[in-house]
Amino acid sequence: MIGDVDPRAADVVSEIEGAGGRALSVRCDVTDEESVAALSMKHALRHMDAQGSGAVVAVSSILRLVGQTNSAPYSAAKAGVANLVRSAGLEYAPTGIRINADAPGYVETPLTAGLDESVRSQMTARQPIGRLGTPEEVAEVICFLASDAASFVTGAVWSVDGGYVAQ
Ligand SMILES: NC(=O)c1ccc[n+]([C@@H]2O[C@H](COP(=O)([O-])OP(=O)(O)OC[C@H]3O[C@@H](n4cnc5c(N)ncnc54)[C@H](O)[C@@H]3O)[C@@H](O)[C@H]2O)c1
Repeated sequence: MIGDVDPRAADVVSEIEGAGGRALSVRCDVTDEESVAALSMKHALRHMDAQGSGAVVAVSSILRLVGQTNSAPYSAAKAGVANLVRSAGLEYAPTGIRINADAPGYVETPLTAGLDESVRSQMTARQPIGRLGTPEEVAEVICFLASDAASFVTGAVWSVDGGYVAQ
């Protein structure tokens, strides 16, 4: 399920369905309490619990572990996501539901495309691999964590960061 304020989420659903998958897009503003109440992990878990299986993949960040100027609320939230999946992963481990996060480094998305070139150069310089990641590289790990191939993985925060947090 894709919850987004951007109606182009429907295009992503078409792509997934075109490739033989199943998906659903719902207009959801995560700053709106009612939308969050309907789509949050807490509520999804109720349904997964009833069926005795499921996989949740949250998105954290390298900033779960390190600070960055002008990023205090963001880094606090991303550290929260990391520990949320650890604790929830443990709580749900006996139920057949796996809860993990992936934690990207700097990635080429509209979020980073809008930054000054000087800031982007600094980001690239900090990445041991020497470049920003691609959305596809992050998506590969999300798909892995959501799949049965990760059947023994829960409560994990998986770095997808070109080696950033290994420094
Ligand atoms: N790009 C990076 O370098 C980077 C690094 C680490 C972690 N992340 C994380 O990856 C995730 C995706 O980031 P991105 O770079 O693709 O960002 P993005 O800005 O390119 O995309 C964000 C998406 O969120 C949607 N959105 C924005 N406000 C919303 C709201 N109020 N309610 C619902 N949806 C809303 C937008 O429509 C868009 O589809 C985020 O959790 C981000 O923190 C990104």
